[in-house]
Amino acid sequence: MTTYHRENNLDLSDQNKKAWDSLYASTEDLIWGSQPVGFIDIFMPYIKNKLSRDPRILDAGAGEGRNLPQLLTLSDHIVACDASEHALDKIPAPLRSLLKTVICDLEAIPLDDGFFDFILLADVVETLPDPRPVLHELHRLLKPGGLLLCNIPGFEDSIADIDMEAIGENQYLYQGRYFYRFVYQDEAIALLESCGFQMIHHQLCSWVEAAHPSFRSDAHTHSSYVFLVEKAG
Ligand SMILES: C[S@@+](CC[C@H](N)C(=O)[O-])C[C@H]1O[C@@H](n2cnc3c(N)ncnc32)[C@H](O)[C@@H]1O
Repeated sequence: MTTYHRENNLDLSDQNKKAWDSLYASTEDLIWGSQPVGFIDIFMPYIKNKLSRDPRILDAGAGEGRNLPQLLTLSDHIVACDASEHALDKIPAPLRSLLKTVICDLEAIPLDDGFFDFILLADVVETLPDPRPVLHELHRLLKPGGLLLCNIPGFEDSIADIDMEAIGENQYLYQGRYFYRFVYQDEAIALLESCGFQMIHHQLCSWVEAAHPSFRSDAHTHSSYVFLVEKAG
């Protein structure tokens, strides 16, 4: 069972956020490209059906905003937040003009309790040295009955342990700088439930990603558990 050590991880979390920010600043290319992460479309019909009119939506850890066009099909009220100023600056200007951006740590998002109807957390959990405070914060920000969609990769993912140095139990540094953790499905479910979420649906999703400039040189396949959970109403 994965354990999370808060104190040891504070420095790691700081270094990690700096590593992401430097990566975004290092090139004008979009690191993650402009195609949305491969699991969103599978869940969109259900989410669309469940949301009320004009829902408020948060893209948490939005990076350069590749998932925002999808979210804008659901609502005009979108907030994109990330710790990296350089990432948010790279959201294409026409898109950025349609939403609000907030530079912040996901552990302390400066918005009111119960503000959002739906939160997307795509390709972020595995990069957090301690995901629990972030999941608690997202739980705080959701209305009762609000939805969170997130993926949490395990060792099925083709990137797991490739070019990675083990630094602890299931924990790695990719290229000596980027933190990753891979967990088993039952641990991911236990993590979400311990942060107050109720499971609606989860499934293993696989998708192909193109190479990521300055980060991963080859196209690769991700296999990741994807979870749609809700805050109990
Ligand atoms: C792998 S990228 C995914 C970006 C985007 N969600 C996507 O699907 O393209 C992970 C993102 O999480 C952000 N991030 C990591 N830790 C964070 C933290 N503690 N607070 C805020 N953002 C964080 C990074 O800056 C980075 O943009």
